[in-house]
Amino acid sequence: MPADTCAYRASLFHLIDDPGLDGPPSSDAFEWFEDGILLISQGRVLALGAAADLLPVLPAGLSLTHWPDSLIVPGFIDAHIHFPQLDVIASYGEQLLEWLNNYTFPAEQRFSDAGYAEATADVFLDELLRCGTTSAMVFCTVHPASAEALFSAAERRNLRLVAGKVLMDRHAPAGLCDTPESGDRESRELIERWHGRGRLEYAVTPRFAATSTPEQLRLAGRLLADYPGLPMQTHLAESLAEIDWTLRLYPDRRDYLDVYDHYGLLRERSVFAHCVHIDDDARRRIADAGATAAFCPTSNTFLGSGLFDLHAAREAGIQVSLATDVGGGTSVSMLQTMAEAYKVTQLRGRSLNPFQAFYLATLGNARALGLDTHVGNLQPGREADFVVLDRHATPLLARKDALAKSLQDILFNLIILGDDRAVRATHIAGRCGYQRPESSRHEGRPC
Ligand code: GUN
Ligand code: ZN
Repeated sequence: MPADTCAYRASLFHLIDDPGLDGPPSSDAFEWFEDGILLISQGRVLALGAAADLLPVLPAGLSLTHWPDSLIVPGFIDAHIHFPQLDVIASYGEQLLEWLNNYTFPAEQRFSDAGYAEATADVFLDELLRCGTTSAMVFCTVHPASAEALFSAAERRNLRLVAGKVLMDRHAPAGLCDTPESGDRESRELIERWHGRGRLEYAVTPRFAATSTPEQLRLAGRLLADYPGLPMQTHLAESLAEIDWTLRLYPDRRDYLDVYDHYGLLRERSVFAHCVHIDDDARRRIADAGATAAFCPTSNTFLGSGLFDLHAAREAGIQVSLATDVGGGTSVSMLQTMAEAYKVTQLRGRSLNPFQAFYLATLGNARALGLDTHVGNLQPGREADFVVLDRHATPLLARKDALAKSLQDILFNLIILGDDRAVRATHIAGRCGYQRPESSRHEGRPC
């Protein structure tokens, strides 16, 4: 065993494959050790198994950390989030287009100041880690300095992160607009500097069709053709007013998705946030392209956009991902995002089993973002990004955990009752990136 090996003891759960949407998952799809050991070396998973099997063979003197009442799962992955919108969370009373104009664009203008962008990038990434999120696909602002700030802060923390500077050359305040040429040039400079550096990747990031001219979308498509394999992120069919506006701006296109397709943006590693109002034909085209629909439940309910049809998307063969979409979304926590996803499926007369919810937030998102050879589960060789969830984080969680009769109950309790308080520690490539103060487990007392 390598000299730097560390062992962690807790319950262990991770997905090895898609557990399916309905019914109990096949036991091939996951691994679960009620009392397990996770061995980490050189920033990667070395082995995992039952404590009863591994404890007797561990070398004497090996570092062993025991987290009782805890569940180790792979680090959460957020498939769509806006780092400059941390302060936009909880902006009252508007739907998408007014929310953008009244709250979001003013907040994003502050990122022209590189110092402000740098300070906010640190706060943002620390908040992700506090919530157990170890990877994300992130929108910056139109300012290249905002991407520079985020990549630098992610590099300092050794995070596996995908991000890009927004492309936006119309229908926004002057301070938030680039031009087709400047957006193209700045994106290329950022790609050369950051894409493939350490654990970082660059995503071409047109905000959405309505804030880009046809020329800007054409150049975004050319950029993707010039850099094969580069990810792309944008928004698609989030609200009815947005769709209506987009179709008036692009009257020659057959539907909203066709705008992106026409400019070469519908392809593998393309992530379309929302896809709330799309039909089966568009679903099939997204699936055929190997692109991804990012389900953003807290955002869709908060902004009143609509109810994503998870089952229709999956039945059409789309690789769906799960995302917070902060600041349209109301929580950075993927546990709370899973809970809201469950409620959205309930409102559509279906449900979301907790195995599938954890799949979406870990391995499913890793697959959707093309990161699954690196992260997403705890298979030996994977980068050791993991979260320690406290099954007893609150009095009610402890009480419900004691009543749990199955793994499904344990997972579902954490989804419905858990949030940032349930994150005991977050490890990035084998190193501790966040540790909850133990004194905060049950804060306060009745008086
Ligand atoms: N559509 C275009 N920009 C945005 C954004 O910042 N947030 C959300 N939710 N939708 C968008
Ligand atoms: Zn978004």
